[in-house]
Amino acid sequence: MAILKPLKITLKTPIEKIQGLRTTAKIYIKRDDLNGLLISGNKARKLEYLIADAKNHNCDTIITCGPVQSNHCRTTAAFAQHFGFECHLLLRLYGKPRKIYTGNLLIEKLLDARVNYITPAQYQQRNEIMKVYADRLKRKGKRPYIIPVGGSNEIGALGYLDCMKEMEDFIKAHKIEAVYCAVGSGGTYAGLLLGKKSLNLKIDLNGIIICDTIEYFKEKIWKICEMAIEKFNLGIEINEDDINLIDGFVGEGYGIPYPAELKTIGRLAKSGIILEPVYTGKAFYGMLNHLRKNRYKKVIFIHTGGIFSIFAFNKEITKAIG
Ligand SMILES: Cc1ncc(COP(=O)(O)O)c(C=O)c1O
Repeated sequence: MAILKPLKITLKTPIEKIQGLRTTAKIYIKRDDLNGLLISGNKARKLEYLIADAKNHNCDTIITCGPVQSNHCRTTAAFAQHFGFECHLLLRLYGKPRKIYTGNLLIEKLLDARVNYITPAQYQQRNEIMKVYADRLKRKGKRPYIIPVGGSNEIGALGYLDCMKEMEDFIKAHKIEAVYCAVGSGGTYAGLLLGKKSLNLKIDLNGIIICDTIEYFKEKIWKICEMAIEKFNLGIEINEDDINLIDGFVGEGYGIPYPAELKTIGRLAKSGIILEPVYTGKAFYGMLNHLRKNRYKKVIFIHTGGIFSIFAFNKEITKAIG
């Protein structure tokens, strides 16, 4: 199959040098946090392909899932609204729903997404639950399209193959030695790796995991890549050694910030860049630590967005910045 044509609504994002940080390596930042359609971050690149696929399948309703403050779910709600789809979200919630909406959830509600809460135990069975949910909608005459958690499959990953293409000239001109990104469901890293291999770029691609384990993500990323290579005849080969993941920065768990990370978020804000505590805060902090042990001279950090979730962490951030 030829590569799917995306519904391109995002613009090329800039790459900037980060000012004011004292590090041995020069750090550039790919501003995907500025991506189009409600500053959607990394999920916009994936959704340009996923929504195109939903349209090609003549669907009229999108179903997806994620944690209660999922950036992916908020972006999906924005894309669904923009392209005329009904949007149903299955959000993992610990405890009871709050009476006052905040962060991504507030935006989903504003965008009229149908929000359903599921328990952490149900979330373990999310793919089955989404299928049952889709069958129910089909019986009501809807034509649902299911997007997996994080938009991370062989279709969504194409968005980050594009991102690597977008960075190719810069990487070559500036002799970039490594690219870093956060890994939360694997699709961003998988797409970047497909891009690196397709373009034969001589860089290290370093993913900082923010949940689960290296073993889990190696397998998941490898599978996404394999499926993309096969489905879209990419003509490249990827093996597990090509996948370079870094652990040690998850802290106590997914979505639980820690003081050193929050301090990094505060430091970077002084350079005019806002990171958030779930993905980019941990990944950037992880990268700074990794850089101390590596001799890279120039690297790029991909800012994958997620700004709205900082409002759901207002207490933690307030405490950290005093
Ligand atoms: C802001 C942000 N950065 C990074 C990631 C990780 O990307 P991926 O899920 O493709 O691994 C996500 C989502 O999981 C995210 O919302």
